[in-house]
Formats: sequence, structure tokens, C-alpha cells
Amino acid sequence: MEATTDAAMDTVIRNASLPDGRRGIDLAIAGGKIAAVGPALPVRGAQEIDAAGDLVSPPFVDAHFHMDATLSYGLPRVNQSGTLLEGIALWGELKPQLTQEALVERAMRYGDWAVARGLLAIRTHVDVCDDRLLAVEALLEVKRRVAPYLDMQLVAFPQDGVLRSPTALANLKRAIGMGVDVVGGIPHFERTMADGAESVRILCEFAAEQGLRVDMHCDESDDPLSRHIETLACHSHRLGLHGRVAGSHLTSMHSMDNYYVSKLLPLMKEAGVAAIANPLINITLQGRHDSYPKRRGMTRVPELMAAGIDVAFGHDCVMDPWYSLGSGDMLEVAHMGLHVAQMTGQDAMRACYAAVTETPARILGLDGYGLAPGCHADLVLLDAASPVEAIRLRAARRMVMRRGKIVSESPRAVARLNLPGRPEQADFRLR
Ligand code: FE2
Repeated sequence: MEATTDAAMDTVIRNASLPDGRRGIDLAIAGGKIAAVGPALPVRGAQEIDAAGDLVSPPFVDAHFHMDATLSYGLPRVNQSGTLLEGIALWGELKPQLTQEALVERAMRYGDWAVARGLLAIRTHVDVCDDRLLAVEALLEVKRRVAPYLDMQLVAFPQDGVLRSPTALANLKRAIGMGVDVVGGIPHFERTMADGAESVRILCEFAAEQGLRVDMHCDESDDPLSRHIETLACHSHRLGLHGRVAGSHLTSMHSMDNYYVSKLLPLMKEAGVAAIANPLINITLQGRHDSYPKRRGMTRVPELMAAGIDVAFGHDCVMDPWYSLGSGDMLEVAHMGLHVAQMTGQDAMRACYAAVTETPARILGLDGYGLAPGCHADLVLLDAASPVEAIRLRAARRMVMRRGKIVSESPRAVARLNLPGRPEQADFRLR
């Protein structure tokens, strides 16, 4: 809609910088939507917010997370080695002890952390290998409760293997029937390569039948011969699932033969399969069997992007059996991804910002995402002037808005400096 002189808006944000590089931009908001965007809009808002040249961004989106495990660090014991295998064993010990109340409480708490960090959409895998499906029930309840301020998309994730675990496929189908959104999988964890390929076929056919998206943990391994992504691309193409399938992790690609990858990337592009890298987790978990040199283990992010494939960065874990760190900060995720992939060029750094905002929004299929007129008024005002500065500083989220309402506010990053021989600086800006 075009703004008209003196039109009354609910909120007008003045003098913002936008992720596409525009500066001095006003955003007018009415009825929970963005009504107009442009320089010096001739409108007035019941509420006027001065961005003072700071970045206004669409919210952060996490394309890969585990909300059923988050904030469980130390239960029932800590992961002493810090390895993936001890993490999986630990999760196996914790699963029988889980209660729905505790799952809901932890996921709700993480949702609060997320909103405060401007993270307003999360795709979370939920383990379906517990026959009680407690975690599924818990996360569906959390999804319902947080819906006014946080979009959650659930993936039915057979952690123990959809073929390897005898009840996993039936449980996955039950979970979908209960309202879980996306079909998951873990082909590299099946007993054989052949079983892994078969699991991909079964799960993609089920997703196609049900009209659902697919997001598999795929080739989270340092084994260069773990090539389930090829099978995933093949079935996605065969079944017409273009644009609805993602391969998560894809770490084996780091170690694959270059000639083989030159065949693989066009197959992924042809099938419209997206890639989701999880830099914080994969830089810590992969290459553990190496001496030196140690592989980084993250998938080939710049090469995938150059091939025209959507690549998002996910957080994967925060304080759980696999990862004792993290805080729900997608700028920290982008910061790590940028470093691991050596993406320090200007366009590359901006692509890392897109990998935690617009690209995962596209992978999740979020409606009304963005800053264009007509989009939901979901946005973040950062204590930074540009996406690159936001990543550099892991900038404070001055304000987070959902459907036109402010849902979180934080102070700018300032310090009171009182240095010998220097005048006191009460509000020294840390940027
Ligand atoms: Fe994961």
C-alpha cells in the first residue's frame, strides 16, 4: 500500500538502515503489517521509534534445532568427552527420565531466550523413537502456547534410525498424525548404506503422499563415502518435492572427492534441495578421529551457495547432551559459520547474514516474512548499522517486534569508562 500524507499508522520507525544497504528509511506499521517503507514517509504513528541509523532487519530464523533436548545440560550427567557418540549415549540415558512438564518448561524458557535475541521462527526436530511420544506431545503444546510470538515448525526425527529402531517408522507416522509438520530422517545412522538409501526412499515417498516437507539429518559424518544426499536429491526430484526438501549437516561433503562433488551440487540444484549447516556443532564434533591436520567438518557452504542452492545456518543445540554452550543467538551462529567457511568477502559476509534470516525463512516456507509492504510487522532493531556490523558485534537487539507489537527490548551495548588520566565516559558505545 502507498502511504498517504498524514495517514495514521500504529507505529512508524524512523531513520533505519536495512539489510539491503538502504539508509535513512522509515517503516510504517498498521494492523500488524508493514504498510509502507521508504525515505521520509509522510505519515504519523501513534508510536514513533527513532532507529537513529541502526539496522532494522526481518527476524532471525533458525532452520535446525532440537527443542526437546535444549537446556538439559548436566542431566543426568555431563558429556565428559564432548563427543557426538557420548552425546547420543547420554540422550539415550536421559530419554526414559523425561517428563512432559520438564520438556515444556525447558522449551518455553528457550523460547523466551529466542525472542529476546530476535529469533522468531525455529524449525525443531523432535525425537520420535520414544514410544510414548512424550516429547512430541510436549513440543506440540509449546508450539500452541508460543504461537502468538514465535513460529515453531516440528520435524519428526527418528534419532535411532527409522529402520534400525523397530517402532520408529510407526512412531514417525503417529507424530505426523498428531500435527508434526515435517518428515525427518537420519540415513547415515541406519545399519548399512543400503538401509540408509532405503530410509530416504521410504521417508520421501511418505512426505510426497502427505504433501509435507522433508528435512533429514544427512551425512553427519566424516566418511567421504556417506552419500545419502545424492539419494535425497534423486528422490526429491523423482517425486516433485522441489523447494520442500532440506539436507541438514551434510558434513561428509567436506571430505568428499572434489570430482564427485562437482556432480553432486548440480543434482541438488536440479532437485531444489536446500542445505542446512550447523557451524557451532560441526566445528566441535567433526574431525574427532583425525590427528593433524584436523578437518573442519562443515559442509561446503560457499560452493553450495555459488551453485545456487539455498544454504542456511542452524544453531542445532544449546546446552544439551551434545553441546554445553550457546544462547539462542543466531548472530553467534552466523559468526562461526563465516569463520569456518572463510567467508570474509563483503558479499560473503552478507550471505552469512541471509543464512540466518531470509534463506531459512524460505526453507521453512514462512508466510509474510520480510520488510516489504504487506509482510508481517515482525522485525528486529539492532545496535549496529549493517548486517556485517551486526555479526561482528553480535549486536544487542534494541527492540524486537512481532505483528507490530514490541515483545522485547534491550539496552544498547554501552560501558562506563573511567580511565586514569582520561575524562569519564558515561555511555561509551561498544561499536
Ligand atoms: Fe540436529
